[in-house]
Amino acid sequence: MEDRMRQFRFGADYYPEHWPRERWEQDARMMREMGLQVVRMAEFAWHKMEPEEGRFDFAWLDEAIEILGKQGIFTMLGTPTAAPPAWLIEKEPSILPVDSQGQRKGFGGRHHDCQSNESYRKHVRRIVTAMAEHYKGNPYVFAWQIDNELGNSHGDLCMCESCRRAFHGWLERKYKTIERLNEEWGTVFWSQTYDRFEQIPAPRQTPTVHNPSLLLDWKRFCSDLVIDFSHEQVKILREICPHQRITHNLMGFYDKTDYFSYGEELDFASNDQYPYGYYFEAPGQPSYEVAGCMDFIRSVKHQNFWMMEMQAGPTGGGVIGQAPRPGQLKLWTVQSIAHGADTILYFRWRTCLFGTEQFWHGILPHNGVPGRRYRELKQAIEQMTPVLEDISGVYTRGQAAFLFSYDQDWAIQIQPQHPELSYVEEIQKYYQAFYSHNVSVEFIREEDSFEAYPVLVAPLQYLMRPELEDKFLSYVSGGGILVLTMRTGVKNWNNVCMADRPLPGRLSEAVGAVIEDYDGLIWKDVKLSYKGTEGTARKWADILSLTTAKPLAVYESEFYKGQPAVSVNAYGKGKVYYLGTEPEQKILELFVGDLLEEAGISGYGQTPEGVELVMRKGQKADYLFALNHTEEACKIEEPEGFRSEKSGEIGPYGVRVYRKEHGSGHGGQTVV
Ligand code: GLA
Ligand code: ZN
Repeated sequence: MEDRMRQFRFGADYYPEHWPRERWEQDARMMREMGLQVVRMAEFAWHKMEPEEGRFDFAWLDEAIEILGKQGIFTMLGTPTAAPPAWLIEKEPSILPVDSQGQRKGFGGRHHDCQSNESYRKHVRRIVTAMAEHYKGNPYVFAWQIDNELGNSHGDLCMCESCRRAFHGWLERKYKTIERLNEEWGTVFWSQTYDRFEQIPAPRQTPTVHNPSLLLDWKRFCSDLVIDFSHEQVKILREICPHQRITHNLMGFYDKTDYFSYGEELDFASNDQYPYGYYFEAPGQPSYEVAGCMDFIRSVKHQNFWMMEMQAGPTGGGVIGQAPRPGQLKLWTVQSIAHGADTILYFRWRTCLFGTEQFWHGILPHNGVPGRRYRELKQAIEQMTPVLEDISGVYTRGQAAFLFSYDQDWAIQIQPQHPELSYVEEIQKYYQAFYSHNVSVEFIREEDSFEAYPVLVAPLQYLMRPELEDKFLSYVSGGGILVLTMRTGVKNWNNVCMADRPLPGRLSEAVGAVIEDYDGLIWKDVKLSYKGTEGTARKWADILSLTTAKPLAVYESEFYKGQPAVSVNAYGKGKVYYLGTEPEQKILELFVGDLLEEAGISGYGQTPEGVELVMRKGQKADYLFALNHTEEACKIEEPEGFRSEKSGEIGPYGVRVYRKEHGSGHGGQTVV
């Protein structure tokens, strides 16, 4: 099955329970004709599989699996734990989650579950065990998806008594004694000193604001809880069906769960991507953001990933988004392949007639008759299959590293410093600058080795600990080029400010500067000039006092006019760049251009704005994907050594795939 899995290229999220039995054969045939080999099914079908407690009915699903299997289509099953049925909630109402106002949520959507609730866990174990026992030997079932988008639809996650008690256990394991917790959190402030762990609240709404240390530990606890909830299911599946693989549909930079930790127990990572965004988010995600999400998911395990849900039509609920333009579905398909997807499933096969998502369009429209979307994707599948055959399973690492830390993300969410400062958005701004130079990025975490990368970009290292400082210092001493920014080294890992030396703390020597003063740019931007180019700086201004560093940009307004905003310092065999502010994108791109030159990294080529170039290696050849995300045709220079059959303009939302045969200086056969 493992080998077979490697041959799966395309598929769809399929809900046979939404359609009459008479339609299933036709669907399966049409899927095969389109070039699909896999479906994901059943992730919301708890009631269909267990209509009443203890009475399981898998006959309908067996039949669907068999019908699809006969057409050469294999099945991934979702555990249905994102949708506990009404009979279960009626029996155990404590399963319903409680929000930050202390209100219990009602039954009716999905994810109406508390993940620490022991009665829920018992029922979860029952349904997962029953499914696993039933499908362990099914020749068509090759893998499992745990739950669905864990952490989604939860808002604050659950703040019920059961979760609060679980939080106490988590805190006790971390701090051992209540005295230690009081000390670390600084509970002497506002008389919040606790005598026992049992007194500690879940962060429900209070008249003012909670202690930031409590809030950070709560976010860590919630992330661990999600992983633990999933882990129970993983354990059962591993035991009963060791030959079937396990994944989860992650959601790019979604923040409720530390995906690096979660990824450790998955066989492969999967992603859900809707480039037009959800409901009201016009005009959808910019292409660099989509690219960044996919690079991130690929980096979760540093392995190629599956696209578990790829937008296949207009998205919408009460309001309906615009139709993907001709070419866009193919463009998104190729973009995901370019960024490391080996298999792509489209959400969903056919647009549902009823329920909350009746306007969230699938490949087929409501009437089930293949139209423009089916035809476009069918053609994309035909063209991309030979490419996937060569590149599938071959990993292409990003050229530069970005450090990604959930702790930093959460701490900045708790106290953003500036109303519009967000860790993920800051990461995306830097990512965008690399993207504009067509340089690929690998995301890494603190535990990873930094040494493999010539450049490490680490924005907003707001929380700091000695181990991380050591890693930064030895990376730079050894020749690495490190990029640090404002708000580095402000707090310790328990979210408490540090006072033993000026910012950025022990890293000052490597930065070659100290921050003597700073300005929150809450009411206005400031001017700055970077090597003679005028621009704007936003959100924050560190006023640098240089010791050994050289200035690269200076402020041009305010009381710190003329003082450095960006600096570079040689340290050991490497260099540290420090950006004390958020320069506007034009300046950031200039800066990154200089940085790349210094590091000897060249991008895959120059392209007009909105056109990206990404490379993936294969067994026989390298492939360069040119992706035009604009509605205008564009022209790019043929990349050196690469060939494509077509030349001339790339049409609106068009793609071109260039190939360079290994071992030969020039291109081989044609691709697209
Ligand atoms: C998510 C879910 C799907 C579906 C789609 C469309 O990504 O995983 O079940 O709800 O969004 O809204
Ligand atoms: Zn709860």
